[in-house]
Amino acid sequence: MQVDSVESAGGRLGAVLSAPRSGVVALGGHGPWLTTTPAQARQVLTDVVHFDFPGDVSRSGDLSASRGETRSGHLTFAPLTPDEVARGVATFADLWPDAVAAHDRDAPGEAYDAMALLRRPVARSTCDALLGGASEAQRDLVAAGVLAWIDALAPVISAARPPRRWSRARRAEREARHGLEDALAQVDGLPGTPQQAATMLAAGIQVPIAAGSWLLAWLGSHQTYDVDPAHAAWETLRLTPPTWITARLTTTDVDLDGQRVPAGAVVLVSPLLLGRLGDLVPGDADGLPGFDPHRWRDDSRRPGAWLPFGAGPHACPGRNLGMAVLVHLAGWAIAHRVRLAREVKIDQSRGLAPLACRFTTNV
Ligand code: HEM
Repeated sequence: MQVDSVESAGGRLGAVLSAPRSGVVALGGHGPWLTTTPAQARQVLTDVVHFDFPGDVSRSGDLSASRGETRSGHLTFAPLTPDEVARGVATFADLWPDAVAAHDRDAPGEAYDAMALLRRPVARSTCDALLGGASEAQRDLVAAGVLAWIDALAPVISAARPPRRWSRARRAEREARHGLEDALAQVDGLPGTPQQAATMLAAGIQVPIAAGSWLLAWLGSHQTYDVDPAHAAWETLRLTPPTWITARLTTTDVDLDGQRVPAGAVVLVSPLLLGRLGDLVPGDADGLPGFDPHRWRDDSRRPGAWLPFGAGPHACPGRNLGMAVLVHLAGWAIAHRVRLAREVKIDQSRGLAPLACRFTTNV
């Protein structure tokens, strides 16, 4: 069983991957502009004076309620502390086997559904990491609330045109968000306002669920003999980084690596594109689109140079927890010899996720 080829995917993904990799490229007559080298990508992500963060995850503008330090008013988040990371990964290690056992009890003999199975362990892991002051009942309630908000956001984010303010999708999203914010308002020692905590939790749950599912998909479609779990995690984030593209808006006319980009333009950075550049990745140039965790035994290149966690002030504050959870999951998947039960298609409606990753185990 295989994972569908990212290289031959259509849509935005295909447009970005097939763009010429020379300098800064305009994807349409007036942009958006695509960066194609790590140096350009770093300039865009770190120069916050010329490249503004759009910062509207829910397409509702509500994040502007936060008193942020960047122009868009979107606060930057402090990186998780080592204690928070340890707490989060311990919860994941506890709850993942429980989720597997519950599936075995409820649907014996049926293939596991990675995205479904990862929901609660990841949601509780991120809640436990970030909500040190909450009781277990509160963390459970908030975890369920974040998952409900993520689900309600999906139709809003993936719609071709932003749904109207009073559309059913918007109303459902608002209701789920307010329910979550009310639950968060009861928690002591929140990281920021309930709105900011909700944003951080949603980012810290939706993305790792997709990343974990990709990891299981890749390991399930390959021989896992002798694979180092950390190498498997990096190789997954190289081939299918869930946040495969991010955008900034130019605040003035800018010179980007010799190319003039006008004020108000959208500039794109794609970890997925950068992860396919031969000078950032060890191994044969022809083999770059393939999953080969062993390539990272060659330590002449630094894993992560393709920015799967971003860079600059908006870089991922939860990267250490994200990596720790992925490495733990990879260790489990390798020990249990996961196998894909069906072809995996690519869902690009919201970041990059496998459109159902069904797998079985052999141990
Ligand atoms: C493997 C897992 C993860 C991956 C691949 C990932 C990836 C990313 C990327 C690429 C960005 C930057 C987006 C941009 O520049 O537009 C980001 C931002 C963010 N991530 Fe993660 N992330 C992961 C896990 C987590 C976790 C566990 C948390 C929370 C505990 C988290 C919280 C956030 C937040 C709050 C932001 C927004 C930062 C800001 O705008 O200032 N992420 N993540």
